[in-house]
Amino acid sequence: MPIITTEDGEFEESVPYGSDWQSIAEYYPTLPVKFGCRNAECGVCAIRIIRGSEHLTKIGKKEEATLLRKGLTSDYRLACQCAINGNVCIGK
Ligand code: FES
Repeated sequence: MPIITTEDGEFEESVPYGSDWQSIAEYYPTLPVKFGCRNAECGVCAIRIIRGSEHLTKIGKKEEATLLRKGLTSDYRLACQCAINGNVCIGK
């Protein structure tokens, strides 16, 4: 099972393959990810990927446009738009 960690080491949990960040955040309230629109529009759920970006589902056009509009670099993904297929470490 994939392991989700935070850069500061405060969060580490195993999750089922294909999990989405919203489900993980509901199950583990200590996951430092917040959600707003849940539709790739507001950018509230932006997470900086420290390691494991290759284990996230592919970025879509709407997500890419929102990240660009928010001035976020390619290190970022919108948690409401990607699922997890391997170990991922996120920053805060
Ligand atoms: S929750 Fe609004 S973009 Fe993800």
